[in-house]
Amino acid sequence: MKIIVTENHLESCEKTAKIMMDIINKNEKPILGLATGGTAEQVYEELVKLHKNSNLSFKNVSTVNLDEYIGLAPTHDQSYRYFMNHHLFSKVDINIENTYVPLGNTEANAELKKFQDKLNSTKRHFQILGVGPNGHVAFNEPNANLHANAHIVDIAESTIEANSRYFNSKNDVPKKAFTQGMGDILKAEQIVLLATGANKSDAMKSLLLGDEISTECPCTLLKTHPNTTIFIDKDLATLIGYNG
Ligand code: F6R
Repeated sequence: MKIIVTENHLESCEKTAKIMMDIINKNEKPILGLATGGTAEQVYEELVKLHKNSNLSFKNVSTVNLDEYIGLAPTHDQSYRYFMNHHLFSKVDINIENTYVPLGNTEANAELKKFQDKLNSTKRHFQILGVGPNGHVAFNEPNANLHANAHIVDIAESTIEANSRYFNSKNDVPKKAFTQGMGDILKAEQIVLLATGANKSDAMKSLLLGDEISTECPCTLLKTHPNTTIFIDKDLATLIGYNG
């Protein structure tokens, strides 16, 4: 794992967007694995800037997202499809038909199969990741066992709590989601995980300060991946006592 401490989260996002631009420019048919959430938001802002100011074209890009809430329609403003359309897809020249976010409001088992088929047939050149306060990656929540493949998950109580800031109340947060499995995620050629904010301290301590890999802290599985970069901002790095 390559670990880069940045001045601030904006620098982490700028650097990630540049990596993504290089991948888009160097591959004939780039396939990107995308994440939603507050951490990734500024990366998409930077990509939109690169599209506008540096001729970055998404015409040949395909994307697959990490996850989606079950029960939310794509038009719901907290669905991950809505997030992607709003923050990136509607602002660049991507062909929307080449973007895939599982559909949250359809028959779940059929959609799960479609999701896994999509993952099996698309080799991701790149995967962007955030991390949950409990170390979750996508919706792979801490557990004695994790899944390799896409699956339907009961969202952990602590994640419902963390995500409730985006909803009117905690009760409105869906209880289930589709998620890529850890095996799917680790198949991406290159992975970048970004971390910012004091609430990510425990997860980042497990990822950066020790050698242990544990399914009870799913992000630690990234230690097994041959091409992963972690961008952590200075404030969080200092807080956890990481000094290179
Ligand atoms: C989102 C996802 C989640 C988030 C994580 C961090 O697609 O897969 O694992 O990356 O919950 O969320 P934020 O960035 O909002 O702190």
